[in-house]
Amino acid sequence: MLRNKTIVLGITGSIAAYKAAEIASQLTQAGAKVNVIMTEEAIQFISPVTFRAITGRPVVTEMFDLASEFSIEHVSLAEAADIVVVAPATANIIAKLAAGIADDMLCCTVLATKAPVVIAPAMETNMYNNPITQDNLAKLEAHDFVIIGPAMGWLASGKEGLGRLADIRDIIGNICQVLGRGGELAGRHIVVTAGGTQEPIDPVRYISNRSSGKMGYALAEGARDRGAKVTLVTAPTSLPEPVGVDVIQVGTAQEMRQAVENVTLRADALIMAAAVADYRPIKAAKDKIKKGKVGLTLELEGTPDILGTVKGNFIKVGFAAESSNLVENAKGKLKQKGLALIVANDITASDSGFGTDTNRVTIIDREGKIDSLPLLRKREVADKVLDRVAKLLPKPKSRRPNKI
Ligand code: PMT
Repeated sequence: MLRNKTIVLGITGSIAAYKAAEIASQLTQAGAKVNVIMTEEAIQFISPVTFRAITGRPVVTEMFDLASEFSIEHVSLAEAADIVVVAPATANIIAKLAAGIADDMLCCTVLATKAPVVIAPAMETNMYNNPITQDNLAKLEAHDFVIIGPAMGWLASGKEGLGRLADIRDIIGNICQVLGRGGELAGRHIVVTAGGTQEPIDPVRYISNRSSGKMGYALAEGARDRGAKVTLVTAPTSLPEPVGVDVIQVGTAQEMRQAVENVTLRADALIMAAAVADYRPIKAAKDKIKKGKVGLTLELEGTPDILGTVKGNFIKVGFAAESSNLVENAKGKLKQKGLALIVANDITASDSGFGTDTNRVTIIDREGKIDSLPLLRKREVADKVLDRVAKLLPKPKSRRPNKI
């Protein structure tokens, strides 16, 4: 998503300016071309040399900096940008932008760009809550600026409160989402499931599996980055919730079924990467089962087949975790569950399937076309699946981007 994107990163004079180094680093590592503009106050907090080294590109600190390749045409950065991000943004820069003042390179660039602008405020709580700052932010929002945060937490004053720069994960997630607005899934609603359901045995034990949720979360982020409204129905995982995605946390297969049935009422596609437990104890014990001298027998029953039974005007995509007869077994599931696509997941290798960062899959469609992919990162697998989902969706009547 960020590869080859040109991003202006504006940095202003806040103690949080040091965090902009991590933002610049993550964007650069993801393949973006990051052009940093620092205000006079920002360079009191962190050196432009840091950003020069991180981005490998010139850093602009003055309006007419003759040493910079951007100096003569001072709107060139604005024109080249796919997105402009101001992080951290002080009350001062927010006030100047709201008033349309262009007396430094950053304000000039923000006011001159046609690219989307993301603002991440960072300041003391009282300054942030001040009605003047709130009015200024509301004005920027009314002009389609995307405001991220601020977050609660430790502030430079030594107090705790609202005003901390939003988490870097939130900022990067929002940048991806904004860049993806108007993508090929704009106006679509995609439901994704992830994780392994947990079927209680007693109040402290359950039956589950090794699903980490990584595959499903990658699908949710991938769909978000193509402009879709995304609902992620997830069984418990240790992953942070994806930014810009509606997340519904569930525990059991029955809860997942209920949530999927509710949220697919207006969905365009359901992609089930979750590893739903196939069996559950017929009755969970009310109290913790005590250790006995003899063995313990659990009586199990089948769980509902969510993907096979959910109905509606959307396309269904399943995953099949297989350790033998990959294609044959997956084809059977595709037919049995009435799917448009099935992603046959080879779980025999240690770098594919449950818990891994990479995956080896074969995508099979209803016509029997088989596409065996090499070992890829889960996000790359997600993108390959979403390429096909986008092609399978009927042409929409209108393609209004989803509001962020
Ligand atoms: O979460 P990760 O660690 O990243 O691992 C990813 C994964 C291996 C879990 C994922 O890529 C995967 O293969 N998910 C499907 C695992 C699975 O349960 O496959 P299955 O063959 O049992 O089920 C076939 C399909 O029916 C799946 O889409 C499943 O979500 C769905 N199903 C299964 C059982 C059930 N009761 N209801 C269902 O809807």
